[in-house]
Amino acid sequence: MGSPQNTILVDRHGQEPWWKAATFYQVYPASFKDSNGDGWGDLPGLISKLDYLDDLGVDCVWVCPIFESPQADMGYDVSDYRKIHAPYGTLADVDTLVRECHARQMKVILDLVVNHTSIEHQWFKESRSSKDNPKRSWYIWKPPRFDEHGNRQPPTNWRGYFAGSTWAWDETTSEYYLHLYAPEQPDLNWDNPECRAAIYQETMRFWLDRGVDGFRIDTVNKFSKHADYTDAPISDPNSSLQPAPEMWCNGPRIHEFIHEMNREVLAPYSAVSVGELSNTPDPQSVLPYVSAKRQELDMVFEFSAIRLGNGNLFGGKYSYQPFTLPTLKAMTSKWQRFIDGTDGWTTVFCENHDNGRAVSRFGDTSTHEFWRRSAKTLALWQTTMTGSLFLYQGQEIGMTNMPAAWGIEEYKDIEAVNFYNEAVASGDQARIDKTKHGLSILARDHSRIPFQWSEEPNAGFCSGEASPWMRVHDDCGTINVEAQTGDPESILEFYRGMLKLRKKHRNVFVFGRHVLLEPEDEHVWIYLKEEQGGDGASTRKRALVVMNFSREERPLLDVAAALGCEGEAARFLVGTDGVESKISSLKGWEGRIYCNFEVAV
Ligand code: NOJ
Repeated sequence: MGSPQNTILVDRHGQEPWWKAATFYQVYPASFKDSNGDGWGDLPGLISKLDYLDDLGVDCVWVCPIFESPQADMGYDVSDYRKIHAPYGTLADVDTLVRECHARQMKVILDLVVNHTSIEHQWFKESRSSKDNPKRSWYIWKPPRFDEHGNRQPPTNWRGYFAGSTWAWDETTSEYYLHLYAPEQPDLNWDNPECRAAIYQETMRFWLDRGVDGFRIDTVNKFSKHADYTDAPISDPNSSLQPAPEMWCNGPRIHEFIHEMNREVLAPYSAVSVGELSNTPDPQSVLPYVSAKRQELDMVFEFSAIRLGNGNLFGGKYSYQPFTLPTLKAMTSKWQRFIDGTDGWTTVFCENHDNGRAVSRFGDTSTHEFWRRSAKTLALWQTTMTGSLFLYQGQEIGMTNMPAAWGIEEYKDIEAVNFYNEAVASGDQARIDKTKHGLSILARDHSRIPFQWSEEPNAGFCSGEASPWMRVHDDCGTINVEAQTGDPESILEFYRGMLKLRKKHRNVFVFGRHVLLEPEDEHVWIYLKEEQGGDGASTRKRALVVMNFSREERPLLDVAAALGCEGEAARFLVGTDGVESKISSLKGWEGRIYCNFEVAV
């Protein structure tokens, strides 16, 4: 059962499951590499870049949804889980992708989108056809309510993620169906055991039997809803629709469902799983999902840090909220430490396809020099943290947000478009301006523009004659793979080196304990990484990560004291500036690592 690859439970060097020390790389297929000149990235394009990923140090490729879909939400609306969206390629291309990854000792995971389907999925077509169709209860249908004037109203007052109600009216049977996202994405009813069995068979085993190594599981904690379907309390008095995540996140049967999915499918194939866990900023609620003995998920994405700057996730999401470095440090430490002393595991990431670019949000893009320096400091941060590391395409070359001067017409994402239109419909100019500003920093579109391979036309993403589906960044002539390859000062080469170093000292960086120092310092971020176990505190390997998150030079703390060793025993391991420039201070956006162990030359 499954491919022999899946049964390999140790990584290349240790005794831990392979996915713990692995570097994952998220590919957004529409924007990675176009091979046929239609302006959309595709599977042959991705396959042609596997050597690039291998050379970078990637162990596992995560491919965002590639299944047949009308693309209301860029493939997160699947109409057939066993077919490939034609512009991306064919089933045979997926087979080639799996084979070519495995030939390079890399693994590949797919995006599993089973909280909802597309309205075009056969299951939904049947479900909506009549109230007594056998698949009726595979989705969540409710009768309307009526107000005091006899006007039809949705069953609850819930606001969905993409603006508007979570309920859509369906004339055929005169009922509403639930959709937490777009009306084109009806929620499946996981309470129905036949529906769950079909999900396991058609969306999971089908792909595991073709050799994929696991899944990133979309919106995993929304499979079980709170069954009472009551109105959410009014938290936004200016709207008839209210945020209601507590009504549909972490519902009463969620752990039962995930454990069943694990027992039925994930475990028998030794498939890796990483779940998307939104609206759960509490470690005690997250731990049960990732505790090894509970056999649910291997790891999850928790979003407190990456969401910094977002307003209220519902109506106010794009009302930008500035934050300080101590807040970012505190969030990071909380989610680094929550597994301490437990059998759980965690993830490290600062970008994905749902957020603005990290260097534009946490770094400094005001000048070319600060862009380069800050992107390397972010690389130092990410590659020294505990957990499985996830990179997002383009992060390794410091791709930035779309230029601020671009007009609203360059934003293609359903969420950005809906929020902007909602602001326009309000007629409130201040709200429109605020939304535009928020979008310019936080929109999902920023991470979805074409990958920058070279200074060729269309950044080498597609041929010069093609029209890319999203506009290519104006800076692609300077920010691209070709320009950075082989340049020892570049972000790309720094990542390459750091990914090796992370593996070499995996006990410290991947598995070590994270200890935050100077939590209130507004400019410099300092933490220790300490090997766990061993003979005792005095002999444990330690690394001290010091990063200047500002443009100005800042004094360096007493490194040996922080490492708990004698002066001579504190060694410089690596830095964003290559050599240790000024011993007693850090330049603007400089990061360094010191350690208490022997550094091989
Ligand atoms: C989370 C995905 O990451 C996002 O892109 C998508 O819009 C929603 N889930 C709905 O599937």
